[in-house]
Amino acid sequence: MNDVSNPVFGRRRNEAAEIAAQAMPPSPALTRGPVTPAPAPTLSARTTADAAANATIAAAAAAASAVTTRADITELRNLCLTRMDATAVASLAPGRLLIEVERLVSDLATERRVQLNGREQRNLANELVDDMLGLGPLEPLLLDESVNDIMVNGPEHTFVERSGKLVQVPVRFRDWTHLTNICQRIAASVGRRVDESSPMCDARLKDGSRVNIILPPLAIDGPSLSIRKFSKKPIDFEKLIAFGSLTPPIARVLEIAARCRLNIIVSGGTGSGKTTMMNAMSRFIDPAERIVTVEDAAELQLQQPHIVRLETRPSSLEGKGEVNARDLVRNALRMRPDRIIIGEVRGAEAFDMLQAMNTGHDGSMSTIHANNTRDALARIENMVQMSSMGLSPKAIRTQVVAAVNLIVQVERQRDGGRRVTQVTEIAGIEGDTQLLNDIFKFEVTGETATGRLVGRYEVSRIRSTFQERLQYFGLDRPWAQALEEA
Ligand SMILES: Nc1ncnc2c1ncn2[C@@H]1O[C@H](COP(=O)(O)OP(=O)(O)OP(=O)(O)O)[C@@H](O)[C@H]1O
Ligand SMILES: [Mg+2]
Repeated sequence: MNDVSNPVFGRRRNEAAEIAAQAMPPSPALTRGPVTPAPAPTLSARTTADAAANATIAAAAAAASAVTTRADITELRNLCLTRMDATAVASLAPGRLLIEVERLVSDLATERRVQLNGREQRNLANELVDDMLGLGPLEPLLLDESVNDIMVNGPEHTFVERSGKLVQVPVRFRDWTHLTNICQRIAASVGRRVDESSPMCDARLKDGSRVNIILPPLAIDGPSLSIRKFSKKPIDFEKLIAFGSLTPPIARVLEIAARCRLNIIVSGGTGSGKTTMMNAMSRFIDPAERIVTVEDAAELQLQQPHIVRLETRPSSLEGKGEVNARDLVRNALRMRPDRIIIGEVRGAEAFDMLQAMNTGHDGSMSTIHANNTRDALARIENMVQMSSMGLSPKAIRTQVVAAVNLIVQVERQRDGGRRVTQVTEIAGIEGDTQLLNDIFKFEVTGETATGRLVGRYEVSRIRSTFQERLQYFGLDRPWAQALEEA
């Protein structure tokens, strides 16, 4: 049945043409009389009449091609899509597919007498392949290393974050359906679905980028897509120092904190670099340890060999089968983990995280949305309060203080730079007040001519409450040294 000479054609050409002709109302552009190829202007035309005629033909051809463009390209695109066989498309290597699609575009243009120049044909073929294999108009942005975030607000408006700043880019989708199809492809690639009946979805792309999709009617102005890209090469402390996000002594202190199994929370606003910081710190975890990670959409890039990655699952259409972070943390506790790493605490799992931290799974880590380190503690308390009825506020506070050793605050500052702004030790509790010790605190002192913030870190010399642990791991000297250097 298939035309072997051109694997992109799933059906015999005339059969497909019939279907396409039935499927599509005749386009005014295409029902125009057949465009007879303009005779090549003869060089031998000597008479003025000949010359005038040739000029008219050339002008007519140019006009025809100008009129052809937009409506006809849409028709051609639809026709190409009708003629392509999904199985054949899936079986071809991308390079080969592009060649075949180009050939198909060219054949159909001839068949339909649509005049396209070589560049227009190539553009259409590229667009079709991007739509079929990738994320359509988003492909160039995904390849662009300088882009961190991609935010699509309906088919007409796309923004990206570059160097910490948001800018609009001239990327457009054809219509809601085009954008919705791309959203659905992303969801389907991780076994999820997104449509009118379940219009919200978290997913990830092949390269690990995190994606959130929300469709109409919940998103009023059209499908909305938020993509958090991760740099292909993970950002380690060396890079963070080069970016000016922290200083070598802070890096050293955080490295020691990770090595000697302190329970650490990374706190910050949205997109401030919390996950990146946790990834960077996780590099210092001993490769011999067994780590279990719990995430809503897996995005951690841990380098250790012994890892079990768990991901939550939303409920099915019938409202069944949901597995939330709390379920996973509880399950993780039964998996003999040396450390549990939770992508982000947002709710009831906070209680189970504290249990884990307080019951021998020290060295656990997580991130939280909060404006400063004290706020982070208050948020954890609130989350625990909501999930554990019966515990008194005082008991919760005591538990939190006992569980969390260190909070690292990261911030995306107004110059677009992401920085560690606080490293706070939870030193204990007195009455109802937690005792916090800011080991490092960033103070802005000025601004350069180019708008970059300048500042310095204030360093606390108070003796750390985890001195004994530092000694146990033989890291008390390097810790003191790092603070000295700071
Ligand atoms: N210090 C940094 N310097 C430059 N870019 C960074 C830095 N930290 C993170 N990034 C980049 O910023 C983006 C956001 O980082 P990340 O995902 O770690 O933030 P987040 O706080 O976890 O965000 P969310 O709140 O959405 O979970 C990523 O693309 C990351 O590569
Ligand atoms: Mg994150």
